[in-house]
Amino acid sequence: MNKISFVFKNKIRTIDFNNSEFSPTSTLLEFIRAQQNTKGTKEGCNEGDCGACTVVVVEKSGNELKYRAVNSCVMFLPSIHGKQVLTIEDIGSSDNLHPIQQIFIDQHASQCGFCTPGFIMSLFAQKADNPNSSKDELIEAITGNLCRCTGYRPIVDSAVDISKLNDLKLFHNYANPELIDSIPVNDIVSLKTAKNEYYIPFNIEDAIKLRKEHKDAVITSGGTDLVLVVTKRKEHLPKIIDVSLLVDTQQIIETKDEIIFGAGVKIEDIYQFSKTKLPAMAEMLSLFGAKQIRNRATIGGNVGTASPIGDILPVLYAYNADIIIKGDTERKVNINDYIIGYRKTLLGENELIKAVSIQKPAPNRITKAYKISKRVNLDISTVSAGFSMELEKNIIKDIVLNYGGMAERPKRASETENFLNGKEWTEQVVTEAMKIVEKEFTPLTDARSSKEARIIMAKNLLLKFYLETK
Ligand SMILES: Cc1cc2nc3c(=O)[nH]c(=O)nc-3n(C[C@H](O)[C@H](O)[C@H](O)COP(=O)(O)OP(=O)(O)OC[C@H]3O[C@@H](n4cnc5c(N)ncnc54)[C@H](O)[C@@H]3O)c2cc1C
Ligand code: FES
Ligand code: FES
Repeated sequence: MNKISFVFKNKIRTIDFNNSEFSPTSTLLEFIRAQQNTKGTKEGCNEGDCGACTVVVVEKSGNELKYRAVNSCVMFLPSIHGKQVLTIEDIGSSDNLHPIQQIFIDQHASQCGFCTPGFIMSLFAQKADNPNSSKDELIEAITGNLCRCTGYRPIVDSAVDISKLNDLKLFHNYANPELIDSIPVNDIVSLKTAKNEYYIPFNIEDAIKLRKEHKDAVITSGGTDLVLVVTKRKEHLPKIIDVSLLVDTQQIIETKDEIIFGAGVKIEDIYQFSKTKLPAMAEMLSLFGAKQIRNRATIGGNVGTASPIGDILPVLYAYNADIIIKGDTERKVNINDYIIGYRKTLLGENELIKAVSIQKPAPNRITKAYKISKRVNLDISTVSAGFSMELEKNIIKDIVLNYGGMAERPKRASETENFLNGKEWTEQVVTEAMKIVEKEFTPLTDARSSKEARIIMAKNLLLKFYLETK
C-alpha cells in the first residue's frame, strides 16, 4: 500500500503522496491548516510548547476508543494512518457551540481567542477519555496550553464548570469507530516520493525486515524529538521507518515479578500505570512535557535518544531496568551497559528497541526521582536524578545514584555510591558524600545553568533524598 488513510470530517480521507501538495514529512498541522474550514487549529510555536495546534486523535484500543489530545505540529502526517482526527470545527460552530465553548464565554475565558481552540480540545479529550475527570485532572490536561491575554483564573473557573458536565453524548457522539475499523492496518505502508521514503510497518517482524533493508533510514515513534529535526533544524530526512503503529509494542505487561513496557507505549499511559506501581517513575513523568506530548512520546523514543537529559533514563537506572532489543534474535541489555557515550547505545544497525523491563523492587528498596528545571511543566531538565537503595537497620546497601544533565550521558555517581555502601544513613555521612559528588562531575555551563549551579543542585538532591527517607 502506498497511501495513508484516516478519518477526517467524518469521512475517510486518503492521501497519495505522489499526487499531493504534502510530503511524508509534512506535519498533521500543515495538513489541517491547508484545508478549508479548519483554520480554528492554530500554529503558535510549531514545536510542541504552546498547545495552540491541539487536536484530538481517536484510536482503537481493543474494543475501546481512546481519545488523546496531541500537538498536531509535532506529528508527521503519515503517523495518523488508521486513526480519526477531531478538530475544533467537529465539535462546535458559532451557531451551535459545544457546552465547553459556552462555558468559556460565560466565564470570560477567551479574549483574542488564538489559544481557545487548543484549550477546548484539550479539555474535550480529557472529558471524552475520562468522563468523571476531576477539576485537578482537567487543569492537568491544559498544562500544555498557553494563553497570552486572558489570565488563567477564568480558564480554571471554566475547568471547574466543565468537570460538572455529565452527559456522555456531549463527548462520545463525534467518533466514528466503524470508519476507523475500515482502514487496513496489516501490510507495510510504503510511501515513496521523489524526495522521501516513509515506511509504516504494523508488526515488529516487518519492522526488523525494513530495518535490515534500509540501514540508512531513521526510526521514529511518537516523533516528539524527530519531527523537530525537520520543522526546526530544517534537515531533510530522506528515509524514515515509523514504528508508532506496531501492534506488538503497545502493551504494558505485569507479571508477579516484572513490569514490561512495550517500546511503543505512550509516556502518558506509563505515567497513569506507574502512579500505583512505580511511584518514582510517576513522580518524574508528572513533570514530563505536558499531556499532549506525553500522549505521543513513547518510552522507546526516550530510551532511543539516549539523551543526557532524557527524563526517563535516570529513573530506569534507579530501577535497574533492562532494555529488550530485537533483531534476528532477542537480547536483554541492562541499562548500565546500554548507553555507551553521548547519544550512543549498544543498539545494532539491524535492531530495534522492543521493550523495557523492570523487576518489581524489593519491599525494602527505596526509589526516588527528581527533576529540576526553570519552570515546572514543559521544560527540559537542568539536572535530574534517579536514586534507590536498601536500608537494613539504617545501613545503606546497593545504593544507585544516577544523574541526568551532569555529563554527556545519564551517569552514576559511582565513587559516592562506593563511599556510601555499608555506612549508616545519617546526615553526617550524607554531608561527606556530597563532597564526593562535587568531585565526580564536571558539567557544562549552558543556557539553562552554570556548571557551578549544576553541582550545587546535584549535591542538594542527595541531601533531599536523605531528608525524605531518613
Ligand atoms: C514540547 C516538548 C517537551 C518535551 N519534554 C520532555 C521532557 O519533559 N522530558 C524528556 O525526557 N523529553 C522531553 N521531550 C523530548 C521527547 O518528547 C522525548 O525524548 C520522547 O520520549 C521521545 O519519544 P518519541 O516516541 O516521540 O521519539 P521519536 O522522536 O519518534 O524518536 C526519537 C529517537 O528515538 C529512536 N527510537 C524511537 N523508537 C525506537 C525503537 N523502537 N527502537 C530504536 N530506536 C527508536 C530513534 O532513534 C529516534 O530518532 C519533549 C519534547 C517536546 C517537543
Ligand atoms: S503550535 Fe505550539 S504546540 Fe503546536
Ligand atoms: S485569549 Fe488570547 S492567547 Fe488566550
